[in-house]
Amino acid sequence: MNTIKKTKLSHIIKVPHIADEASLCVVEETKSVPFPIKRVYYIFNSPENTPRGKHAHKKTQQLLFCIRGKVTLLLDNGLEKEAIVIDKPNEGVFLDAMMWHEMHSFSKDAILLVFASDLYSESDYIRDYKTFIQLAQKNLWLS
Ligand code: TYD
Repeated sequence: MNTIKKTKLSHIIKVPHIADEASLCVVEETKSVPFPIKRVYYIFNSPENTPRGKHAHKKTQQLLFCIRGKVTLLLDNGLEKEAIVIDKPNEGVFLDAMMWHEMHSFSKDAILLVFASDLYSESDYIRDYKTFIQLAQKNLWLS
């Protein structure tokens, strides 16, 4: 597994960065991504003042890179919150299931690259914050 830095609510996975006249980063299943990759998506041209995310996933796990520019990621597990500024193309933030997340303050040039453990399914989303809090706190208290 590539280098991992623990944050308050998550882990940052540092992938190999090969620097010659260009920069080349490598993301490999097992070594960098702690789940089988079923889907890859990327977000760009996001207006600076329009937050994204604002949901949690019931099962899907994700690894999120900001491969250009800068974004502030807000994490919330139902009990605690954390803000992480992501701006390094070789550092991915692990987004576990049942982690409310929001992306704020996109720089104009920001590009997010996301690896996901499951195909897209709207039924995997929890988009209502109150519902998330109820489910998350129940899960945390039971665990
Ligand atoms: P959403 O996940 O809410 O975006 P963000 O987390 O960046 O705010 O998705 C935005 C829209 O795109 C929504 O209508 C669902 C659709 N979508 C797909 O069709 N497939 C996908 O893999 C993703 C991530 C989103």
